[in-house]
Parts: sequence; C-alpha cells; structure tokens
Amino acid sequence: MAIVEIRNFWKSYGDFAAVKDFSLDIEEGDIYGFIGPNGAGKTTTIRFLSTLLEPTSGSATICGLDVLRKPLEVRRIIGYMPDMFGVYEGMRVWEYLDFFAALYGIKRASREAVINDVIQLLDLEKKRETFVEALSRGMQQRLCLAKTLLHDPKVLILDEPASGLDPRARVFIKELLKALQEMGKTIFISSHILSELADCCNKVAIIEQGTLVAAGDVRGILEQFRETLKLEIEILSEPGPCEDVLARIPEVSSIEVHGKLFKVDFTGELPHISTILKKLVEAGVEVLWFREVPPDLEDVFMQVTKGEVA
Ligand SMILES: Nc1ncnc2c1ncn2[C@@H]1O[C@H](COP(=O)(O)OP(=O)(O)OP(=O)(O)O)[C@@H](O)[C@H]1O
Ligand SMILES: [Mg+2]
Repeated sequence: MAIVEIRNFWKSYGDFAAVKDFSLDIEEGDIYGFIGPNGAGKTTTIRFLSTLLEPTSGSATICGLDVLRKPLEVRRIIGYMPDMFGVYEGMRVWEYLDFFAALYGIKRASREAVINDVIQLLDLEKKRETFVEALSRGMQQRLCLAKTLLHDPKVLILDEPASGLDPRARVFIKELLKALQEMGKTIFISSHILSELADCCNKVAIIEQGTLVAAGDVRGILEQFRETLKLEIEILSEPGPCEDVLARIPEVSSIEVHGKLFKVDFTGELPHISTILKKLVEAGVEVLWFREVPPDLEDVFMQVTKGEVA
C-alpha cells in the first residue's frame, strides 16, 4: 500500500470545480513534485490532504489513516507547510518554535533538544533571538519549515517552500529535502520551479485546471510527452551545405540556424539520428559536435499545460 493515497478527490466552489476526480499514490521515500500553473488546484489538493479542507467528494489516506475520519492522528504524522506564513509579532525565533512544539504536545523536558535540532538543521542558529517579524522572507520560510519538522513527521506536505527564495536559499532547500529523504521521510512538494523539481524529485504530478494530466517517474513523463528529439549540431565549415542536407531529411521537422550552430527537431526514432550524422559527413560537412539534447521538464510542462490558466 502506498503511504499516501488520494482517491477521486473533487472540490467545487458553487458551479466551479477547482479539482476534478484527482487520484494519486505516493510511495514511502518518494520526493513527489506537484506542478501546475497558477490556479490549477495545487493548494486545494494539498489542504485536503493536510485535513484542512472538506472535499466535495473523494477520500485520502496517509499511512492508512483516513484524512476525513482521523484528522488528529493524520496531523501527528504529517508536517504541513502552507504557502503563506502567518503573522506572529513579538515572538522570538526560539519562542515561536517552543510555542508550536508545545502545541504538538512535545513535553517541556525534551522541547529544548528538539528545538535545537531543528534550528541546527535549518541553519537558524544566528537568528535564535531575532523577532519573527524581523526575519527576511527567506528566513521566515526556513523557520516555517523548522516548525513543520518539530514533531518528526513521516510525511512532509510542502506548498511552494522555495517560492521567493534567492538561488542560494533554493539550493539549501533542495539539499535539505535530500537530507530529509535520507532520514526516511516522504515528501510531497508543490512548486513552479520546474527545473529544480526535476533534479530533486523522483516523481512528478502535473495538474491543470483541476485535472491531473500526468503523474509518475520523472524520466517516464519526459519520454511520454516529448514529440520530437532535439538535436544540436555545431560545424566548422560553411553553414549552407549542412542546411541543405538537413532540409532533405523527411524526419527533420524544423531547423534553426545560429551561425554555425544548428538546432534541429527530429521526428524519427533515437537510433536513426546517427544517419543524420552520416549524411552530413558524406556531404563533406565538418562536424565539431553533434548531440541529442535531453528533454527538459519545463518544455514538457509548457506543452502539457498549454499555458491555460483557470
Ligand atoms: N475559497 C474559494 N472559493 C472559490 N474559489 C476558490 C477558493 N479557493 C480556491 N479557489 C479557486 O480554485 C482554483 C484552484 O486554486 P488553488 O489555490 O488550489 O490553485 P494553485 O494551483 O495552488 O495556484 P497557485 O499556483 O497560484 O498557488 C482557483 O481557480 C481558485 O480561484
Ligand atoms: Mg497554491
């Protein structure tokens, strides 16, 4: 059984269906990326999974516990990070963590050790005495993530934890996700930063206008959705003959020329790309390099979602 199972989740607001018949399995140890354009239904799905939103219909379980029937038990095993950080004035970083640790029912005697652990993990040592409202946005996200980890949850449900962060802070979050995975946690994470999800998630789900359009292993999805192979060819000789050869190959569907660099879309099969190279060489084209450009999650996303916003 999957550690998280969402079955036929629907959420409507009046006549508008924000999420339609959404089902997904997350296996233990997955870092599962959840991507979709603004308004696609990510936060709606995440709030349902985190026991904070009543569905119109459908169900979900986490570690076999039903989110509708056992919300309190579910909350004990999940760490939910919302897309917005609430306002907490007059509280220092450690007080904020202490407050939530107490809410999670962590006994006074062990609270200090737990707080020290998450402060260390999130590298917040220097901010321990800072007032929460005085933290920068990136530091607030870190604190929010620290709070999410206090009760050592098995499953993390993170709604855009990296939004608004600078590149270094994003790398930090990415490394942290890997470390958390190594600690045995399962992570469901929404984001717009697709290239980043591609190299830290093993699986992704793509949602558009409330409908799940693709889900599963990142590589499988990339293969499934790409229509053409992309080739890049750089030559040393004059571009004319090279362009002529390429234009005569029926499976070449488009050619972009940038000086002596060619970007080519090829509709044939991967093993056939070597025939292109052979034809170029036979025509006397001096090839400097020739490669297939691996598909990119961003391209797949643009293609699958077609930029339609709900
Ligand atoms: N309380 C509500 N009442 C009416 N419509 C709502 C409500 N909450 C969400 N919606 C609508 O449901 C749709 C999905 O919203 P949701 O917040 O889940 O999208 P999202 O994928 O998280 O988007 P973003 O990337 O902008 O965070 C949107 O069209 C939104 O306007
Ligand atoms: Mg959202």
